[in-house]
Amino acid sequence: MVGDIGDRALVGRLLLEHRPRAVVHFAAESHVDRSIHGADAFVHTNIVGTFELIEAVRIWWQASPEGERESFRFLHVSTDEVYGTLGPEDPPFHERTAYAPNSPYAASKAGADMLVRAWHQTYGLPTLITNCSNNYGPLQFPEKLIPVVILAALAGRPVPVYGDGMQIRDWLHVRDHCHALRRVLAQGRPGEVYNIGGVSDIPNIELVRMICAELDRLRPDAPHHPHAKLIRHVTDRPGHDRRYAVDAAKIQRELGWQPQTSLADGIATTVRWYVQHPDWVESVTSGSYRDWMTRQYGAGARA
Ligand code: TYD
Repeated sequence: MVGDIGDRALVGRLLLEHRPRAVVHFAAESHVDRSIHGADAFVHTNIVGTFELIEAVRIWWQASPEGERESFRFLHVSTDEVYGTLGPEDPPFHERTAYAPNSPYAASKAGADMLVRAWHQTYGLPTLITNCSNNYGPLQFPEKLIPVVILAALAGRPVPVYGDGMQIRDWLHVRDHCHALRRVLAQGRPGEVYNIGGVSDIPNIELVRMICAELDRLRPDAPHHPHAKLIRHVTDRPGHDRRYAVDAAKIQRELGWQPQTSLADGIATTVRWYVQHPDWVESVTSGSYRDWMTRQYGAGARA
């Protein structure tokens, strides 16, 4: 069933029909660059949508039998970007780091986190919040850095690196993230926040070079070999956060989770996945996607 989290009546009907043990709230507008071009969808989906969803859940939950009320969980999946940016010597973000969102996207997620927190404090809804670092892996929509780089380099198009490429991100393989969420759902304490990180902090330019090196191995006969010669430094993103790093000690200590995928292995398997799935890429890179790529990177960037 595909629906809108902002459709409270629909969500209410689904809750009554299925009586779920948990609601895991992944739904979000998540791309910073798009939020800079137009914040409306971000405020609408991430803030208003979260409000409508959690309100539908609260109304249903409050009318549920007591045993079911206690064991129910509302897991809200959020981002490390709510914490803002770090200086080179700052300690990584932990669960009590003050919120300081810098992009419209990050601000909208911060707003959603605050609603979820308040619904726990005020109504006792058994909520859990997770703040994760940059996800990557197969099936990621090609607007985020890793698939943008893989697809551009595969096609011999310029590989866009914003500014000097020395911005640092922590990368979390999607499989590790899902394992962490299962753990939080099963064992997390209601009302708590858990940071989830990949222990893989790296400057963008190094990550882009890793991807290019992987493509060199997979496609030694490509006309644009070595792929790193396609790298182009382009105009930086406004308000670009310089560094993210996540202290995931709490989830390790309390729930025994830590990431299993090294960045080298994760990048190798992810690059291979995109090389082996041109049909999937084709199916998601038409229409409005092409318009977005032209708007963001200019006419030469079209898939
Ligand atoms: P992105 O995947 O958009 O995630 P986020 O903004 O949530 O961190 O970007 C990751 C980093 O890569 C970020 O520092 C911006 C940079 N970047 C580029 O240099 N070029 C690109 O084409 C994109 C999409 C991102």
